[in-house]
Amino acid sequence: MKKSIFAPGVVKLFGEHAVVYGKPAIAAAIDKGVYIDCVSSDRLVVETVGITTGLRFSPLDRRVEAFGAEKFFAYVETALRLAQERWGDLAAKFTIRSDLPPSAGAATSAAVSVGILKAYALCAGADVGDEEAAKLGHKVELEVQGIASPMDTAAVTYGGVLKILTNPFRAEPLKIQLPPFYIVLLPRLGTTGEIVKDVRALLGKRKSATWVIEAIGKVVEEAEGCLRAGDLECVGELMDINNWLLGALGVVDGRVVDLLGMLKPFIYGGKISGAGRGGIVILIPKEGDVVSRILKGLGYPYYKVSVYPKGAGEV
Ligand code: PMV
Repeated sequence: MKKSIFAPGVVKLFGEHAVVYGKPAIAAAIDKGVYIDCVSSDRLVVETVGITTGLRFSPLDRRVEAFGAEKFFAYVETALRLAQERWGDLAAKFTIRSDLPPSAGAATSAAVSVGILKAYALCAGADVGDEEAAKLGHKVELEVQGIASPMDTAAVTYGGVLKILTNPFRAEPLKIQLPPFYIVLLPRLGTTGEIVKDVRALLGKRKSATWVIEAIGKVVEEAEGCLRAGDLECVGELMDINNWLLGALGVVDGRVVDLLGMLKPFIYGGKISGAGRGGIVILIPKEGDVVSRILKGLGYPYYKVSVYPKGAGEV
């Protein structure tokens, strides 16, 4: 009998980068993510459907690198190994599909890691609690990436909108409603690791940059109040402020500034989500139909998404 898990993708509503330096952040699970089916088989087989790989040129360091599926498979492989160690051998066929392309900044790596762990446990007839799934999922990310905060794996595991606190790490559910919003996918110039490293170098060099991190922390605190009050105008304005502050750290490029400028009359505000230099841009729409039409015309992939209230689980 087929069993299926859905693991949501994640966007960072506020506070990325500053969260690396102990500031809070706000992340949200979305209703686009990764699906993993499992049926019994005579051996362990994994198949992906529609997940493509590619090559990209990074103009920053003039290097061509593989992206997409190759990295994605490293998460799949590591999650399967940890699952096997935890729940024993399993003869099953896993089929993985994703609504979103890998390496775009929508936490598909966290989703596939937690999703595989949950699917494996489900098909092995074992029980895995959220705490263990989040912990193992984070372990997968650490093994593959070397460095990763537990923010994405927690958001995939618990769902909804979460306030992320560090030292010690905590993910507090914010019980809020947010109307559907848009995410646009811009080609990413650099990996999360590279971009985080560049920000670290800037902070080491320029004292003023550390005040930018402080300011982002303050934005997150104010944004929590706006989100709780359902005040979209305030949410949008604070996203704009957060985005300019991220720009001061060197992670927002002209494509994002142009996009947000062009859409300004039709949105409350917007920002990058994640490490930046392209990747996901969140837009909080005032006039959704117009936003949709403009995005279609621009030719960037985009999605209308809603907050997914649940964490990764059986569907
Ligand atoms: O680009 P993403 O989705 O991998 O997000 C990175 C978020 C950072 O705050 C920049 C780094 C982190 O580990 O929190």
